[in-house]
Amino acid sequence: MKKNSRILLTLCFIFILKISYAGEGMWLPQLLKALNEGDMQSMGMKMSAEDIYSVNQGSLKDAIVHFNGGCTSEIISAEGLLLTNHHCGYGQIQSHSSVKNNLLKNGFWAKSKKEELPNDNLEVTFIVRIEDVSKMVLEGVTDEMSTKERQSQIDKNIASYKQSMRPLKHEEIQIKPFFKGNQYFMFVTMTYTDVRLVGAPPESIGKFGSDTDNWVFPRHTGDFSLFRIYAGADNMPADYSIDNVPFKPKHFLPISLDGVEEGDFTLVFGYPGRTNQYLPSSAVAQTMNVLNPAKIAIRDKALKIVDAGMRSDEAIRIQYASKYARIANYWKKWIGENQGLKKSDAMGRKHKYEQDFMTRLKADRTMHVKYGSLLNDFEKLYKEIEPYALTRDYYNEIVRRNIEIMTVASYMNRLESLYANNGATGYNGFKARLEPFLDDFYKNYRPEIDQKVFASLMEMYVNADIIEGVKGDLAAMAKKHGGFDKYAKSLFESSFVPNKNQMFKLLSADPKMAIESMQKDPLVQLAKQLSDAYDANVSKEYSNLNTKITDLMRIYMEGQMKVFTEKKFFPDANSTMRVTYGKVAGYSPRDAVTYNPVSYLDGAIEKYVPGDYEFDIPKKLLDLYETKDYGQYADSNGKVPICFLGTNHTTGGNSGSPVIDAHGNLIGLNFDRVWEGTMSDINYDASICRNIMVDARYILFIVDKFAGATHLVKEMKLVHPKKDAKVIKMEEPKKKKKRRRRRG
Ligand code: ARG
Ligand code: GLU
Repeated sequence: MKKNSRILLTLCFIFILKISYAGEGMWLPQLLKALNEGDMQSMGMKMSAEDIYSVNQGSLKDAIVHFNGGCTSEIISAEGLLLTNHHCGYGQIQSHSSVKNNLLKNGFWAKSKKEELPNDNLEVTFIVRIEDVSKMVLEGVTDEMSTKERQSQIDKNIASYKQSMRPLKHEEIQIKPFFKGNQYFMFVTMTYTDVRLVGAPPESIGKFGSDTDNWVFPRHTGDFSLFRIYAGADNMPADYSIDNVPFKPKHFLPISLDGVEEGDFTLVFGYPGRTNQYLPSSAVAQTMNVLNPAKIAIRDKALKIVDAGMRSDEAIRIQYASKYARIANYWKKWIGENQGLKKSDAMGRKHKYEQDFMTRLKADRTMHVKYGSLLNDFEKLYKEIEPYALTRDYYNEIVRRNIEIMTVASYMNRLESLYANNGATGYNGFKARLEPFLDDFYKNYRPEIDQKVFASLMEMYVNADIIEGVKGDLAAMAKKHGGFDKYAKSLFESSFVPNKNQMFKLLSADPKMAIESMQKDPLVQLAKQLSDAYDANVSKEYSNLNTKITDLMRIYMEGQMKVFTEKKFFPDANSTMRVTYGKVAGYSPRDAVTYNPVSYLDGAIEKYVPGDYEFDIPKKLLDLYETKDYGQYADSNGKVPICFLGTNHTTGGNSGSPVIDAHGNLIGLNFDRVWEGTMSDINYDASICRNIMVDARYILFIVDKFAGATHLVKEMKLVHPKKDAKVIKMEEPKKKKKRRRRRG
């Protein structure tokens, strides 16, 4: 008896532990009321679903803004002040930088609105409303239709629906598939294009820790930047003009000064890009055992070469810093993802899930007929697609990404085919877009580095166990030249493509003559040969098989939702607005290792390496630390918090997402995940998946104390929800008693 109750107690404890970690799910804001409100409130949320998403009144969603299609941002003042990550605003900050006036290095703070810097090619998008349009979109679609028929019916439905809608001026309509095409939602959006840079800390704060600390905790990065949305006099979107005025939002986020503690409710609201939560085990196995290792190995080689170059020469370091960061970001992510998939026993979990799926199907004949063979079909299809998928990754990573010159060479072929098809108009149109790109490209390009990458990766390509046909005559050419190094040297020396002057000279020539020279160029020829070989041997087969898989995936998704009726499903991320909720929590990735959920300025000081490009700290910040001049931004322990961890289910695209407390105030800014948990894109595991956020108080501290941009802090609304709640609690019992008496 005693033993039994102890077991029961342990089970209860495990259950409670599980619940208190809950964080899985990227939920649709308009469905929170039906699916999540109760759960969220039981985790400590004091708001209603209507406070988060409402069509009829200002709600949190009106403060959440898609930032240039990739990141998230949020409004934090009545005058359209916009907060996002430093790495999201990086391109804009860089574009205003020069050697003389290096905003990346020194930071930037507009002292008044007049000094705010306009940006080309930057837009931010609001959601006006979201509607389920599945019925309309799937009208007339039947199970008997082929994929093509189905898609064409859907396209027709969407087109006629869009025509019937009369969006207001400035509104746009987008219809997107969810649950692998089982549901469709319409998004009415509004996009502003006059968005100006207001402030950014120096990189030694905004990118502190750089690649070494990327995807890692403890983290000490102040990864934020500030922009402002401008509108026409009517508060509507308008092209840039000095007459534009600061945008007046329907809602902006107040900022809490009360900080976070382990267990506090956290809501992350933003635009996650892409996840794959519902894959069959055969797909997960392929990602884990075949595709990820190949991509990691390729980038490993490329990164080592670039790194050696960057270490040998300061100018190269600057030229390659951003490119290196981009390549290293996902290289490191995939390594973490693979480790996490193993550690979380993703395969074991998927197998168990699939067994359950099959067992339940057996109880229902019609369902079994419809879904019973899916898993076997996947197994077969994934086997079939594997060589194509692997070759595709090799081609993309080697020919299209990591050897820089191959991309540029392929543009020459594009010019050629545009000329052949559309004459000088086609040629000149593309050339006009190409020239500014090339100007930028050569600024940060070193042929001597790329030549080494070429030699190393092309050798890998030739030796890889992939579809032979894609390799062209690379092997023979290398042999003829006496190895890949010599082959690369000869190519880079004889081609005009690596040379900026020769390139621009050629582009200024008459199209016909230019094309003749291009056609003779060995690198341009090679790019064409490899691209043709890929098209002939892989493209079509891959896309055919992939279409079959996509189709099955839609049916499998439908099956999962019909079979596991007790489970609440959320759709995979697809760059649409989502809410994820969780709690502030540390984690323990390995035996004897436990991370606290909050990091402090003290930890940045521990990492400080004077003059280092990753771990330098500005003098002013060191001074503030010395004198403990923290103003109202310190934690109750007297230290300045920098980052904290939560159980929110996030992914790429959630960068810049606001972290919101139980009452709707901003407490942080999402910017990363922990390495051990990056497999959450495929297999979320509440025990080790954590998102990383900058504490809002650190942002305020940097803006106010470090930068002296106090006018910006004054523009914000700072609040004390925890302190206020205590005051209310003390007053509350009286009120409650009164009410009860009245009712009784
Ligand atoms: N890992 C984060 C993300 O996926 C941050 C990337 C930017 N920072 C960097 N050191 N590369 O985007
Ligand atoms: N840094 C990522 C981004 O730019 C977010 C981190 C993640 O993948 O969770 O979107």
